[in-house]
Amino acid sequence: FLNTVGPDALFRMILHKSSHERTPEELELVYEELLHVKALSHLSTMVKRELATVISFEQHYHAGTVLFHQGDQAKRWYIILKGSVDVSIHGKGIVCSLQEGDDFGKLALVNEAPRAATITLRDDDAQFLVVDKQDFNRILRDVEANTVRLKEHGTDALVLERISEPKGAAIEHSGSRALSCYSVMAGLPEKIIEYVLETRVDAQPDDAQEMDTLLEDFILTHLIYMSTNVLCNYLKTYYIRNTTSADPRLVTTNELDNEQKVTSKRRVVAFLSFWVRTLGLHFFFDPVANSFVEELYCCVLEDSRTLPGMNLILAKISSIRNQRESAQRSLARHPTVVIECGVLSTMAPAPNPILPSDTCNQIIHLSDTTSFAMSIRMDKSTREICELASARLRYTQSDKALCLVEVKSNGEKIIFSLIEISISTMLGLNSKLYVVYRDEIDSLQPQLDQNGPVESVHASILEFVSSSELAHQLFILHAQLLEATDEIELITQVIGREAFPGRLPSNLDLLMRRFNEVQCWVTTEVLLSLPAKRINTLKKFIKIAIHAKENRDLMSLFAITLGLSNIAVSRLSSLWEKIPTKLRRQFAEFESLLDPSRNHRSYRALVAKLTAPCIPFIPLLLKDLTFIHEGNKTNYNGLVNFEKMHMISNVLRNFRMCKAPFAGAHSDMSSRRNTDSQNLIRNFRVKND
Ligand code: CMP
Repeated sequence: FLNTVGPDALFRMILHKSSHERTPEELELVYEELLHVKALSHLSTMVKRELATVISFEQHYHAGTVLFHQGDQAKRWYIILKGSVDVSIHGKGIVCSLQEGDDFGKLALVNEAPRAATITLRDDDAQFLVVDKQDFNRILRDVEANTVRLKEHGTDALVLERISEPKGAAIEHSGSRALSCYSVMAGLPEKIIEYVLETRVDAQPDDAQEMDTLLEDFILTHLIYMSTNVLCNYLKTYYIRNTTSADPRLVTTNELDNEQKVTSKRRVVAFLSFWVRTLGLHFFFDPVANSFVEELYCCVLEDSRTLPGMNLILAKISSIRNQRESAQRSLARHPTVVIECGVLSTMAPAPNPILPSDTCNQIIHLSDTTSFAMSIRMDKSTREICELASARLRYTQSDKALCLVEVKSNGEKIIFSLIEISISTMLGLNSKLYVVYRDEIDSLQPQLDQNGPVESVHASILEFVSSSELAHQLFILHAQLLEATDEIELITQVIGREAFPGRLPSNLDLLMRRFNEVQCWVTTEVLLSLPAKRINTLKKFIKIAIHAKENRDLMSLFAITLGLSNIAVSRLSSLWEKIPTKLRRQFAEFESLLDPSRNHRSYRALVAKLTAPCIPFIPLLLKDLTFIHEGNKTNYNGLVNFEKMHMISNVLRNFRMCKAPFAGAHSDMSSRRNTDSQNLIRNFRVKND
């Protein structure tokens, strides 16, 4: 029989049979043929044998035939046996061609998403191996290749990786739980956003507790490789793109059904809604994002007059617009003073974020030892501060530029770049800020008063306020500072402030500053205690640390532990000997949590056991982010390295999780905000190391 019909014809004949009609010999023959198919080469023998029972054959005779359209529901997976096909995408036209041996069509199957592209035959008489959706899901879905590369114009545009058990509600789809889906490993920015829009946005319910990881990662990290402006432009293009056809040869504009147009528009508006939901008030800090909301609102309004099916989309964008209006109202609040001559002001807005219009009252020192106080808006740059200060100089040298210099108590000097903003929140404890000419910088020396107090300022609170009350007050302040801090500030800080002109990581500054302050406070108070009281002070701090741990205020716990581990305190061995063994053991346990070995294993084990809300150890969080940032390129081979973005988002997500439950739970906190002890713990007078 083989001799009369030839192997190909025999193969095809078997493939036309339904699976229960195939004999064992025929299955063996199909299996052997499958061994030569490149697209199946990564699969195990068992899987190939199973495929032999179900795989079928499809033939099309005319070039130009469309196998399926972008946006269609997926029914099968294809492998090209003969001929070639064009892959085309709405608004882009043909992006690539696939040849004999290539496969296509599994993205939509695995992601349970609509087809990402239209497939058109290039040649007459094209032949395919096909696997139906049900068989694909049963046999292949979980063993499918781990990476998929999508090409556009000859180069990789998107590299996808199969992940199992994706987080978020997107996995609940048409009643069946998807076991895996493709996440992004790398890609061109516009291709990544296109993929997010097409595979994640539709499946994500508005009110889901957990957001799809890829969608959330994209929203949290896009700023690293794409400005808001660029992203908004991509979104605009996508919004209007279905007014041009996917394949100019096939469809004229009026053949495109309205449903497709509406789908694109719906996705853009839904994406915007998730973006706003993820960043909250911080979304509206960005003027570009604000005007995008307005622009999109106008487009939707306009379209709703001509296109049916736009009502829900109009309702959604209107609701985003309302959120914008209420955000604008809170952002238009009266400016407050954040830092008052080096100390955190009682007016500082936490738990609300600092606004660009808020101010710091800052003492500016001049080289002639005079000084004056100046109110500086948060968004004023070094250049502007120098200009304002120059009016106060006794003598001016018009040919020389002024510099803004921080002189720390240990003599270290930091010269601020001209575009730097939010200077006051960045200053170290006991630092002084100078406006001087460059040639005067060398002569600047720390002053005696920068050494901090000579006797304890807080001895009485330590003596008369209980350790649990002190720990509670520390917790409240830290929770407020944490809530004011947005994840994006962590990115700005780690990637470099200069890359994000106009964005203030100033809430984060306060949080970091607070950590240092508590740490120095602890050391200062022990060292300045009267000898008779010193042992009690030391015991008190260990007790506060115990309460801080119970409160899940890791910031206080570690600041206190570091403060007490300071060599100036730890070397007071006669003092430590008098501490009851139980407390000493407790402290040793806290110290071991700070042990950096095996990548801070003990700390991470502790955090893993904690439930939110908790106040994280910010320096370690920043260290993790810096490590990820420095150890991984943002781009490689012209594509955004999205694996890095996943890693960064994981840290940011932990940060969000720590603070999320604080949101709105401040009634207890704010009512106590101005109590005496709360004021006492707001600012400590400290000695620096
Ligand atoms: P699917 O979305 O199921 O259907 C269209 C297929 O085209 C898609 O899976 C991929 O397998 C294939 N394809 C090839 N190149 C691209 C590309 N650049 N963009 C999108 N899909 C592509």
